[in-house]
Amino acid sequence: MELIKLNNVSKAYGEKDNKFYALKDINVTINSGELIAIIGPSGSGKSTLLNIIGTLDTYTNGEYILKKENIGGLNDRKLAKYRNSTFGFVVQHFALINEYSVYKNIEVPLKYANISKKTRKERINYVLRTLELEDKSSKFPTQLSGGQCQRVAIARALVNNPDIILADEPTGALDSKTGSVVMDTFRNMNKEGKTVIIITHDERIAKQCNRVIKIIDGQLVG
Ligand SMILES: Nc1ncnc2c1ncn2[C@@H]1O[C@H](COP(=O)(O)OP(=O)(O)OP(=O)(O)O)[C@@H](O)[C@H]1O
Ligand SMILES: [Mg+2]
Repeated sequence: MELIKLNNVSKAYGEKDNKFYALKDINVTINSGELIAIIGPSGSGKSTLLNIIGTLDTYTNGEYILKKENIGGLNDRKLAKYRNSTFGFVVQHFALINEYSVYKNIEVPLKYANISKKTRKERINYVLRTLELEDKSSKFPTQLSGGQCQRVAIARALVNNPDIILADEPTGALDSKTGSVVMDTFRNMNKEGKTVIIITHDERIAKQCNRVIKIIDGQLVG
């Protein structure tokens, strides 16, 4: 099923002579259930593309159809709701709150979504089990390894049961062994039906994906 469709999407910064295209005429269709790597040099537009897909960033031209709906027509409130229920975000440096326990970190998106305490507990316990973090529930991020922190960040991205996981260099801060454990987690999520899109500089990560999207100077190649 067609999940994401970008038609001639561009993102420009600046005006006239100073105009710079971070993305230029991107056409791409992503179906549900895909496991995709986005690769390309630094500054080529990978994060911009991922953030536009996740509705965290805006585009300046073109059309974005998400689940058959034209995103350009939605107001901020609707977009925020979409974002919460459709996407789970994972970033390179985890973005965990150090003053919160693992449990409380994972709870954050559920609180935003106004989920009851009882349901929050069930969902959190479920993702803790899935990511083998049950014994870390009351620990704080500073007491965990990098790989464990990244798994907490993935648990937090998953807890709202999103359809689409967007990960911006999720293994970038990890050694290769820990990175491959994290990659296994993404592959498992994909097997369970999630659409997963991962930005990576790592060939080995890209090789494990079903499809590779390459960007150079804001344009898709290959
Ligand atoms: N707010 C901004 N104003 C102007 N230019 C910007 C802005 N944000 C990003 N850019 C430019 O857009 C281009 C694409 O940036 P983007 O962050 O998408 O690259 P990237 O492929 O993710 O790079 P990296 O691998 O280093 O993370 C870069 O050249 C960057 O300098
Ligand atoms: Mg980037």
